[in-house]
Parts: sequence; structure tokens; C-alpha cells
Amino acid sequence: MKKGSRAEIDRLYGQIRYHDYCYYVLDAPEIPDAEYDRLYRELIALEVRNPDLVAGDSPTKRVGSAPVQNLDEVQHAIPMLSLSNAFAQDEVIEFDRRCREALGLDVVDYVAEPKLDGLAISLHYDDGQLVRAATRGDGNRGEDVTHNARTIRSIPLHLVGGDYPDQLEVRGEVYMPHAGFARLNDVQRRSGSKLYVNPRNAAAGSLRQLDPRITASRPLAFYGYGVGLVNGGTSPESQSQALDALRHWGIPVNPRVSTVSGAEGCMEYHENILVIREKLAYDIDGVVYKVDSFSAQDQLGFIARAPRWALAHKFPAQEELTVIQGIEVQVGRTGAVTPVARLQPVFVGGVTVSNATLHNASEIRRLDVRIGDTVIVRRAGDVIPEVVKVVLDRRIEGTRSFRFPKRCPICGSDIVGDVDQVVLRCSGGLFCSAQLKESIKHFASRRAMDIEGLGSKLVDQLVETRYVRDVADLFDLDLETLLSLERMGEKSARNLLHAIDHCRNTSLGRFLFALGIPQVGEVTANILAEHFATLDGLRVADQSQLEEVSDVGPIVAEEVLRFFSQTDNQQVLDRLLLVGVTWPDKQNSTTSHKLAGKTFVLTGSLDHLTRDDAKQRLTRHGARVTASVSGKTDFLVAGSDPGSKLVRAEELGISVLDETAFLLLLGEHK
Ligand code: IVH
Repeated sequence: MKKGSRAEIDRLYGQIRYHDYCYYVLDAPEIPDAEYDRLYRELIALEVRNPDLVAGDSPTKRVGSAPVQNLDEVQHAIPMLSLSNAFAQDEVIEFDRRCREALGLDVVDYVAEPKLDGLAISLHYDDGQLVRAATRGDGNRGEDVTHNARTIRSIPLHLVGGDYPDQLEVRGEVYMPHAGFARLNDVQRRSGSKLYVNPRNAAAGSLRQLDPRITASRPLAFYGYGVGLVNGGTSPESQSQALDALRHWGIPVNPRVSTVSGAEGCMEYHENILVIREKLAYDIDGVVYKVDSFSAQDQLGFIARAPRWALAHKFPAQEELTVIQGIEVQVGRTGAVTPVARLQPVFVGGVTVSNATLHNASEIRRLDVRIGDTVIVRRAGDVIPEVVKVVLDRRIEGTRSFRFPKRCPICGSDIVGDVDQVVLRCSGGLFCSAQLKESIKHFASRRAMDIEGLGSKLVDQLVETRYVRDVADLFDLDLETLLSLERMGEKSARNLLHAIDHCRNTSLGRFLFALGIPQVGEVTANILAEHFATLDGLRVADQSQLEEVSDVGPIVAEEVLRFFSQTDNQQVLDRLLLVGVTWPDKQNSTTSHKLAGKTFVLTGSLDHLTRDDAKQRLTRHGARVTASVSGKTDFLVAGSDPGSKLVRAEELGISVLDETAFLLLLGEHK
């Protein structure tokens, strides 16, 4: 019996390790989660019946050990160094020049890697078993966090592949993905515990716990980026070989790692990663270049605490300190009243920022933010800059609290909604010039009616002069009126009139989106247009007919009904139709379902189409268009300068279409 169980348990160890490898390293699970869970439960059942057969590195033993009293100190056999930093391209060129000169080479190959913003860890494997994990500490001595590292699912307790060295030290980064960070802070908030400022602090705090059960509950992940000590067995000869070997042994390695040539290759990599930075599931603060060849690395050696063969090319910081000079409220298109902090201008996320959103009244209370406070502002990609934290240490005397106004500062109407409710609204509707301005800007925006030349400043003037009191008035503007505005020349005025004239021919989807019905974004507008085919069909639809539309729930249906039930809106609609706003009706359009169920990603620029056009045509044929390449992508359409999405698609074996092939597929090739 025992003998049979031994074999059974070993079989399950092998299977579970293999499926962990497929999941965490290859990012390509072979079996559904339910089947994995079944194997896991089968193993637990066997282990419960045969406790003496349970191996120390059994996959069920991730959270076995008891809490420790304190974290023991660990001496690193090979110090864990830091990296020299660069921010500017010149510094990268200089780094490459130094490497080339010291090595006597014309071109140096580098391995380029994302620089994860987590914390460094060293993992020791003896005969394939994870025996110790330690933080970097001061580089010479770190802390023993073996009990915690074992709970991180992407760190294998046992290597795979069989041909691993007798002793292997893996170095890499423990990090917390964004989604997990948000969840963790939600839990912290609900239990009244301290919130973590960013994923890096959360990762560090989670890894340095005394009780491994706490670490196990934290969504940590790991990527390996190098090797330390290697004994017994063949040693890799380059960084790229080392990363391949790590993958082969079951250590997850970032799939965006790439081998590049010279400073130019490095810079191109930096640019590509910067573009996709916001789409990554985790924070990175730059990229790292490492001379690929290990013998070249040895030749270059070290200076102080950093290797001469590596460079961290940092991205502009996404968080900075500044001072709140004032707090005001802004009124949006739908009347939502948002508090905005006026800041002492600060360079963050690559631009100078002087305003940051405070989201709502309860956020102001949560942050306890006051005028005069020093705060951390964050600007990540194109996301609106926000105040994330007050630095209480730096609070000076005389800071002032902010009282939310009861009336709209623009039109004087009551602000409605409870301060405890998240959204407060100005009740003025289109009587409120702030709401009117924003709704006209939305109407004219590129994805709506696309009126080129009708910018924000101009809309402000048109509303303030009362030439425009609703969107239909735009179509009554004439040259004389426009010329009477400040800073308006004849050429721009004529261009604008032409653009207004031109926008009359649109699509029903764009038109519905342009109306700015609350809850009706671009996607919903297109779904409604597709479903009802005509404006009249939609205008007379009742709640249940609206709810029949896929993706339209009761809340959206209610907003649509409310919009069409208002006589003011009906009148504006009639006037818009009267001035000639029109769209092809569905019968004449080229809607088809030939690409139904297919998922497309677009990258690079196309010669014959804009990105939006391409997207629209795809959706018209029933395809889905997503932003990033994954296992679910069917086709990547690659224009010129495609960047990293192409690399990813090729890695995943996804069909890549060039522009001609794409147009042929759409049946639109001329
Ligand atoms: S290599 C001598 N590679 O950055 C080589 N480090 O400033 C030292 N880091 O402590 C590390 N991603 O925590 C390396 N792909 C990467 C990295 C990386 C993040 C962190 C690591 C290290 C710090 C160095």
C-alpha cells in the first residue's frame, strides 16, 4: 500500500510542478483551473493518509511553518549590488561607448529587461529544492524570508527540467500586481488598517512578515532576472543563456525581456516599454540593460556598489511631492462636481502638473487634505493626475480645511446628493454654463461629431457670448458671428464652418455618443445604433425593449429613457435633424458578421486608415478590438513601426496581418 502511495504522490508532485511551470513560466496553462484543483485535492487526500510520505517541497506545503520571532540575518555569498541610473539618452550613449571601448568591440549586445518596482530577493536551490530565500538588505546581509517566499505561488519549491545545477542561486524581484494591490488596500480599508501607499511598499511589507499566513494572503508574484552562485553542472555563459536556463528550470522570467544591439537598440527598447508601461499589470520604474556576455561582464567589472556592465534607464517618476495652494470645484458635462487641487507646479510623469483631482468629498476626508499641505501627486500615463497622500510630517501651522460648497460656483444652482454619496451634482442642467460648455466640447470631440477646430477656448467664448445655447445652435453659426470673436481669423472661421458643415454626415452610433446621454459611452452608443438601426426606433423604445439589448442593463435603460423623455432634448434632436445631421441607414451599410467572435489588436500606423477607422470597420464586421496581445488574440494588424505588440504576437504564434492583408480580409482592398 505504502509503495503504491509513494508512486502516486510522486506522480502528483510531478504533474502539479509541470502545470505550475506551464502556468507561471510559460503563461500557457494546459489544463483548466478546475482540473488543477482536482489534482491538488487528490494530493492532499493522499498526504493526509500518508503523513510520513510528505516531502518538504510538496506543493501543499507552501504555508506550513509557524510564525517566526524575528527575521534571521543572512550573509550573501556574492553581494547583491545595485545599478547605476540614467535618465537621459546621452547617458545611455555614454554607457554604451564605455562598454565598447573597454571591450574593444564595434557593437555590444545587451539584454534589455523591464525594471520591476518591487524588492530584490535571492533564492537558493540545493538539488532543485528551495532551501533559502533572503532579501537584499544592505547588499551584503539580508533577512531570511524563506517561510514567506514559499507562499508565493510563482516561486517554485522545486525546480523542473532535471538538468539544473547542484546549487543554484536565483535572483529576481518580488512584486505586487496592480489588481492585487487594489484588492489588498480594499481589505485594509474595510478592516480599518493602514493603507499601503504603492505596490512596492505593499510587496516589501508583505514579504517581511513574521507570520507566513499573512504573506500567503497577499497577492505577491515573482520574476527572476539573474543568477548568483552556480555549482555543479554547466553554467550559463551569458545573461540571455542564464534567463533561458531559468525558464527551463521553472523560474518565471519576464516575457518582455529582449536582446538588443548597441545604444540604439537600448533606446528603442526603452521607448517601446514606455509606451506599454500603463498596460502592464505591475509597476516598473524603467528598464535595465546588461552586457549579454558574462566574460565581457567580468572584463568590465565594478565601480563602487554597481557593475560597469549594467545600467538602469529610468522612466520619469510618476509620483512627486508638491504643495496644495488651493482647492476648487469643477463642474463636468453631467453636472458632477469634482474637487480639484491647485498645486505648486511640479514635474511628474514627464510633464509639469499644476492641478490634480481629489475625486470627491469623501476622498478629501479620507486623505484629510488641507490647503497648505505637502502631498504626493501621481501622474501615470494619460490618467488625470491625482493626490494620493498627505505627508503629515510636513504639515505646517495654518493649513486650512476645505468646505464643499452647497451651490454650484458657476450657475448658483443647488448641489444635490449627500456629501456621503460619492457623486455630487449641480442641479442646473444645461442652464449651468459649465455643463453646457462641457457637453458641447463632448459633442464636437473626435470620437463624437468630430468637428475639427472647435476647441475648448472657442466653446467657452461661444457659450459666454450666448451665441450657442445648445448643440443645435452650432449649425446656425455664420462667418460674421465667428469673426466677431476674439482671436478668430477669417481662415480659421471658414475652416470651422466647413468642419461643422462636414460633420452633418455621421453615423448613428457617433451621433448617439455625441448626445452625451449619461451612461452611454462609445461602445453602448454603437450597440444601441446597431440594435435599433434608426433614431426613431430608439426614441420610442420603452424600458423593456431597451433592456433586451445585449449589454444594456436597467441603469443604462433608465438614463436613455430619461434623456428622451425631456422635451428640451427632443427639441434639440429635431433641430439637429432639421439642419441636416444624417447617417446612412442600416440597410445600406456594410454591416456583416463575417468576423464575429474574432479578436483583433492594432499596432503601428496604417497608410490608408486611421486607427479609429480600422477599429470601426472591424466592429462593423462583428470583430472585437482589444488593446493588448494575449492568448485570446486571433489577429494582430501591424502597420509601420509596430513595436512590442508584434514581438508578443510572434511569441504567441498569433497571425499577423499587414495592411494589404487586412484590407483584403475586410473585403475593401481596392
Ligand atoms: S539587476 C547587479 N535586473 O533594481 C545587478 N535589477 O537598482 C543588480 N530590479 O535591487 C540587479 N528589475 O531590486 C536587475 N531586471 C532587473 C531588475 C532589477 C528590478 C531592481 C532590483 C535591484 C535594483 C537595483
